[in-house]
Amino acid sequence: MRYAVLGTGVVGRTLAATLGALGHDVVIGTRDPAATLARTDHDSYGNPPYREWQAQYPRIGLVPFADAGEFGEAAVVNATAGVTSLSALTAAAGGGGNLAGKVLIDIANPLDYSAGMPPSLNPGNTDSLGEQIQRAFPDSRVVKTLNTMNSQVMVDPARVPGDHDVFVCGDDIEAKQRVTELLRAFGWPEARIIDLGDITAARGTEMVLPLWLRLLGVIGHADYNFHIQRAV
Ligand SMILES: NC(=O)c1ccc[n+]([C@@H]2O[C@H](COP(=O)([O-])OP(=O)(O)OC[C@H]3O[C@@H](n4cnc5c(N)ncnc54)[C@H](OP(=O)(O)O)[C@@H]3O)[C@@H](O)[C@H]2O)c1
Repeated sequence: MRYAVLGTGVVGRTLAATLGALGHDVVIGTRDPAATLARTDHDSYGNPPYREWQAQYPRIGLVPFADAGEFGEAAVVNATAGVTSLSALTAAAGGGGNLAGKVLIDIANPLDYSAGMPPSLNPGNTDSLGEQIQRAFPDSRVVKTLNTMNSQVMVDPARVPGDHDVFVCGDDIEAKQRVTELLRAFGWPEARIIDLGDITAARGTEMVLPLWLRLLGVIGHADYNFHIQRAV
């Protein structure tokens, strides 16, 4: 199946590589492919420049956001910097219906670093990025998921021992079922996939990010995740 992943950072790369390994046709969307391929610096987390990663995955094409939005048919994955996601998705829509009717998997967090560290959430509390995206693209079927963990854990939950959970939310039941199947393919046990209901639940899953970031400092590495322990 054809997937488009919007985002050239570690999340986009990790999701694209995993989808490719599962046998899907994948492109990655970016603002300007030539500019992205010309980068030579490692990012602030030490990830290599895009072209070094690309050399290991020659079957994954790098295309402008609009071409990616058109290509993705099984789903379009939003793995862009959250405060810029609406702009990236507008480009992916291509001025037309590129995203209409499609499952739009939103992994982004609206982290605002403009006032330094730690980042704040924008929006937060009474709104969420997931809801903003669903409002901006009412014909798309937005499913928020995977945003509450590190990118390696997203596609390899066994990295973290024991039971731990992934959340999904969105307004379209069938879209959530398809995303749940994809999560199962990534290795998530059915029982560990928690459907929180409609897209307004994205407020909660985005607002755990300040806690997740704080834990990163306490634990000292990113191989951890949340587990909801229930009485029954
Ligand atoms: N890092 C993690 O493990 C992790 C875990 C959970 C959730 N997330 C969330 O996943 C998303 C991706 O994270 P990341 O660390 O992989 O990458 P990132 O650095 O947050 O985002 C990179 C992407 O954002 C795009 N972008 C940046 N500024 C833009 C602008 N002004 N207009 C349009 N697009 C713009 C970039 O486009 P170009 O390609 O053109 O540069 C690039 O594709 C974020 O929302 C993050 O909060 C990350």
